[in-house]
Formats: sequence, C-alpha cells, structure tokens
Amino acid sequence: MASSAWLLTGVFLFGCCLRAAPSSAEIDRRVDALLARMTLDEKLGQMSQSTSMNTLTDAIRQQIRDGRWGSFLNAGSPADRAEAQHIARTESRLGIPLLFGRDVIHGYRTIFPIPLGQAATWDPELIEAAARTAAQEASREAIRWTFAPMLDIARDPRWGRIAESPGEDPYLASRLAAALVRGFQGSGLSDPASLAACAKHFVAYGAVEAGRDYNSAWVPEIELREVYLPPFRAAIDAGVATLMTSFNTVNGVPATADSFLLQHILRDQWKFPGLVVSDYEAVPEMVTHGFASDAADAAREAVNAGIEMEMVSTTFYDHLKPLVESGAVSTKTIDDAVRHILRLKFQLGLFDQTIPAPQTTSPTPESLALAERVATESAVLLKNEDGFLPLAESIHSVAVVGPLADSPVDQMGTWVMDGRSADVVTPLGALRNLLGNQRVLYAPGLTNSRDTSHEGFAAARTAAQQADAAVLFLGEEEILSGEARSRAYLNLPGAQDALVDELAQTGKPLVAVIMAGRPLTFHDMASKVKAVLYAFHPGTMGGPAIANLLFGRAVPSGKLPVTFPRTVGQIPIYYAHLNTGRPALPEELGIPAGTPARPTGYTSKYIDVDVTPEYPFGYGLSYSSFTYSGLRLSANSIRMGGELTVSAAVTNRGSREAAEVVQLYIHDVTASVAQPVRLLKNFRRITLKPGETQTVSFRLGTPDLAFLNQEMKRVTEPGRFEVWIAPDSQSGIKGEFTVK
Ligand code: BGC
Repeated sequence: MASSAWLLTGVFLFGCCLRAAPSSAEIDRRVDALLARMTLDEKLGQMSQSTSMNTLTDAIRQQIRDGRWGSFLNAGSPADRAEAQHIARTESRLGIPLLFGRDVIHGYRTIFPIPLGQAATWDPELIEAAARTAAQEASREAIRWTFAPMLDIARDPRWGRIAESPGEDPYLASRLAAALVRGFQGSGLSDPASLAACAKHFVAYGAVEAGRDYNSAWVPEIELREVYLPPFRAAIDAGVATLMTSFNTVNGVPATADSFLLQHILRDQWKFPGLVVSDYEAVPEMVTHGFASDAADAAREAVNAGIEMEMVSTTFYDHLKPLVESGAVSTKTIDDAVRHILRLKFQLGLFDQTIPAPQTTSPTPESLALAERVATESAVLLKNEDGFLPLAESIHSVAVVGPLADSPVDQMGTWVMDGRSADVVTPLGALRNLLGNQRVLYAPGLTNSRDTSHEGFAAARTAAQQADAAVLFLGEEEILSGEARSRAYLNLPGAQDALVDELAQTGKPLVAVIMAGRPLTFHDMASKVKAVLYAFHPGTMGGPAIANLLFGRAVPSGKLPVTFPRTVGQIPIYYAHLNTGRPALPEELGIPAGTPARPTGYTSKYIDVDVTPEYPFGYGLSYSSFTYSGLRLSANSIRMGGELTVSAAVTNRGSREAAEVVQLYIHDVTASVAQPVRLLKNFRRITLKPGETQTVSFRLGTPDLAFLNQEMKRVTEPGRFEVWIAPDSQSGIKGEFTVK
C-alpha cells in the first residue's frame, strides 16, 4: 500500500482514547492466548530485530505483513513508523504490533550532557528528570524503547565508551541507574510517554583489556559481583524492562551465550522478569570469538543461554527452526522468549492504544532550561588559582579561543542521533549573548581538536593580547569518544598544547574549559592556566551553562565520577583499590618525572611519576569553600545487625550560595577478603548560603558493611572500620568504630 493511501484507510486507529492499563494477570492471559495461535516462523519473527528500515520500502511493508520482524531499531521517520505500525496491527495475520527501539542515550531532541557528565552531577533526581524529558520527546515520535541506561562501570579512560558510562563506582552508578530507569519508564510502561529502558551492556564491557573496545574481559567473580553487577541489579530493582548483553567475552565466554550470567545470576538469583536482547550482531560474532562453530551453532548457544531477541543479525530466524525441530532448542525456550516480548508490548499498551498520528518534536523552553541546569551541575572545576574564576567585572573583554568554542556537533557528544546543531548554543554564542559582540574576540586558533596546523595561532594570539583574559575551549571532538573510539594517548590531541603555549606568551590570564568524552591528561597545560573547568560534552545548552559559570551567574558543583590519571601509564587507577603490602609513603609522592628511585624505596610506586591521580574520584571545587568539622558517630561500637549514625557539620565559608556533594566512605580495616582503602557508601547534595552550616547525617547498618567472601557469601565480619565524611575520595574527616 502506498504511504498516502494508508493514512486514509488507517484513520480509524488514530486519535481516540486510551484504555486503562491491563492487569498483569490479564496480560498473561492474552499473551498465552496469542502464543497458542502463533506458528514457529511467527515466533522467530518476534525474536528478530531489524535495522533495515531506514525508509519504509515495499519489501519491508511485505515483511511486516508476514510477521518477519518483532522490532526495528533506529528506524525510519515518525511517519514511516506510524505506517509500519499500522500495517503490523491491521494487515499481519495476528496483528502483533512492532516495537520501535532507538539509542536515546542522553536526550532525544534536547541533548543533555553525555552520561559521564550527567554522573558528575551526583544528582539522581536531576538526571531522572532529564531521562523523563528524553522519554517524552522520543515517545512522541513513536519510539517506545531506548537502549539506555548504559551501566558499564568504567575505570579505563582509554575506552571510548567511558563517555556513555556512569563512571567508576558501583554505588554512585547504582543510584544513577535507578534514577535513569525511573526517568525513562515514568509512572509505568502503559503511559504512552514512557520508554522501556534497557540496562546495558551485561556485563563487564567496561573491563575490556587495554581499554580497547570489544576486547576480552577477565574478571574474577568477586570483582564481577562487587563492581560490575551492582548497577544492573539496581536497574532491575527499579523495574527496568529489558537488558542487553555485551559484545565481549567474560572469562573466555561471550556474554551473549553465558548461562552463568544470563540464567544463574539474572534469572535464578535476581529473578529478572523482563526481555533480554543481544547487542548488534553479537550472536554471529561468537564464531569469530572462537566460541561457536558457525551461525547455527551461535544461534543455538545464544538462545539456550537466554538471548530472546537478536539485534540486526538473523541467525535466529535463519537457523532456529530446524534446531527446534531436532530438539537442540526446546519449544519452551522459544515460548518463554516470545512471552517476554509480547508481554512487553502489552505492558507498553501497543496492542490497545491507538496509533498516534505521526508527530515530530523540538526542544521546549522547559527542556532547554533543564538541559542547561544539568550542564551547569555536570561541570567540574578542577583548578582555580587565586580564585580567578568567576571572571571579575574588571574583565571587560575576553578572547574566545580553541576548537571547541563553537562546535555544535562536538558539544553534543557521542551517540546523538536526533539532536540538531541548530538547537545548540555554543560557548561562543552564549558569551556573545551575555557580554555583547564587542567584548568577545573570537579566534579559534585550530579548526578542530586534531588540527596540527599553527596557521590560526597568530590571530588567536592577537585576540588574547587585545583582551583582558583568554578562555580556551579545548578537548576532544565527539568522534574521538564513544563506541570503537579507544585512544592510547589521552593528551589533548592536535596542536592544542602548542596553542596554549602560544597564548601563555602573551602574559594574559588564561582559563581552560575542556569538553571531552573521557578523562584526558593535561598536567602541563593546567600549569599554564589560572583555572580549568571540565565540562565533558555538555549537550545542547552547554554554552549558556559554561558562560554563566565563567561569569559567576552559576557556581560549579560537579564532582568527578571517575579518577583522572596523571598519565596513561597509571591506568587502571581508581579510588577503591586495595592496599598493597608496601604502600608508597607520603614522602615518596611527587617524585618528578625522570628522577631515579631512591635506593630505600621498595614500595609500590612508579619511579617516574607520582602514584596519586591528577584529580581523585569525587573531586570538584566551588567558588565558595566548604569546611568539614565535628565528625560524630552515634556509637563507637555496634553489634551485628545494628546501625549507627555518622554526622558532620559542613559550613560554607565563602561569600556565595553554593552546592556541595557530601560523601560518605568506609574502610573495613581487616577482612577475610581484603577490602578497598575506601568505598563510597552514600552521598548528599546540599546547598548552603554564605556562612551557613548544615549537619549532614548518614546511617550505616551492618548490612552496608558487607562484602563477598571467598565462598561468595555476603558477610559482615566483626572488627574495625574507618569512616569518612568527605568532599572527595582523598580527603575528609575521619572516625572509627567497631562491629562486635
Ligand atoms: C551498541 C549498543 C547500541 C546498539 C544499537 C551497538 O553497537 O553497542 O550500545 O544500543 O549498537 O545501536
């Protein structure tokens, strides 16, 4: 049917009312009734997700009528999706609706900061609101499934997908995971403005060796369960509807066919009731991994392990029928998978709701205000010599320099399918709005982050000379982070360091704003500037957020969700490491690069660089300053099963109202499995007026002190515990208690 005709014949499905969400029992009854009528081909069609629908062709129309696909990803225009849905519901034998999935990763039309930047807000409610906005925008365009949140703990900034991750810490990531699931799924899947969320990539994708994407991960079970699995568990507890497996092998077995992960942990231990989808062509890739002998073998391994929908590749549809007939795959396995798919479609209301007429969306003043707020909270102030920021009234004119000052696509960051450059306000645009064109002297110096030409340097230097200060917008283009964008060097690419050197010669004060998809290494550059503000890739409204921060209309409050190394050779470096038997001594820190080891120093360190990070996890400055005092424990010792309250007074000593993320860490001093030197257990974002003091209290029960012992049992062992209330993972005020 031609696309204009379907609109005429299809009107009856439009525009009418919603039915109340069916109960779970009613859904089960309808799923079973439908399943009983399905052929094996139709079942395998449901288990297949296609990426082929760039535009809706006649061939695809026919495939939809034939029940060939259960789902499309990243497909078509809103009008194509509406027509395809109409065909599925009215012209296919059983009228089973399609499920349209898409990578709505950090916003749909309104682009929020990359997920790593969102994590730097330490503000679960705020990022829940961002996810809610993304869901509202995407669902209006007939998308009801997002492949987010990405929950891969990442401790290796070489890995480009660290941009999509919630950072290095399982506790912070778990809090964010739950918030994102709530945001995407809203008040429930039956709300037409909700998206089914997808916790991905299950699991340990962030642990790929050498930070190289898709590489193998070797992770001991304790680490798997303590570090990589908790965010997924949190997403499931928050009701996430679906889960995606990862591309990599975990301890030699592809995650896509690992029944220990997909059956034992996910279904048996966690009772996950939702749908499991493979990643893009991950099923046949198991042949290349050296795990499956051919495509049919890969399909059998994947489905028997628990993959229920195959993304893009077609091994299920091509090979499962004879495998079912021969008994190598059971009918029950197929039926269970199809049940999960149909159940989700019923839960989303796709069988019952009228097909929305094709609509498109654009950012609204509200969504843009929210994006600006998230960008503001995600920026982390790393250096601020002599309180140079915010820029004073006396700074009348600024030179705006650097390849990221006016680069909408780069500012949006990785995984942006639907954001539009025209909606983006860059720092250049925002500074011109704020100060007027006369006060902004723009000379980028470099055309993009990898540019090595010095041709633009002279103009940049002249601009700096003419201005009262220069702000350098440095970092990485969006294409340098994200999937398959691993880097072996983490320095500022191209001639950016040379550009800073050039400007430093002017003697004008310099400020660096870094936009990047990962922690970069920029030790020398930082020594040449007064201040460093790390903005990640801040999204549509990054410009106004940064301009307001620079000029003190907003106060930085972001805190690093991941450790920043001094150099690539320190990786992996993360705060929650174990102690060695020979920790580096404080007086051994700071050995300048190039000096030989002292003969006495048989400790765990480097001879050419300090062992500490450049900036620790949890770190971030403010324009105010906060003091932490009066740590109090409600008890010095508690019994097993008991709890105590840890509190401290936090005072804003500065002259501005400002927010601070107060962090609670513990250390189990002696345990049958050695425990990290510090472990985040809670945090709270508070806002204090100048001079104001707030007492921040956290409760700690003995279950919060538990860890996995060698028998994989979660235990709290009696003994000494250290506890900190802290502004970051390396400082704070410390107390001690015992568990008896
Ligand atoms: C990525 C997934 C993504 C999928 C669909 C894959 O390459 O690993 O995260 O959801 O593509 O676009």
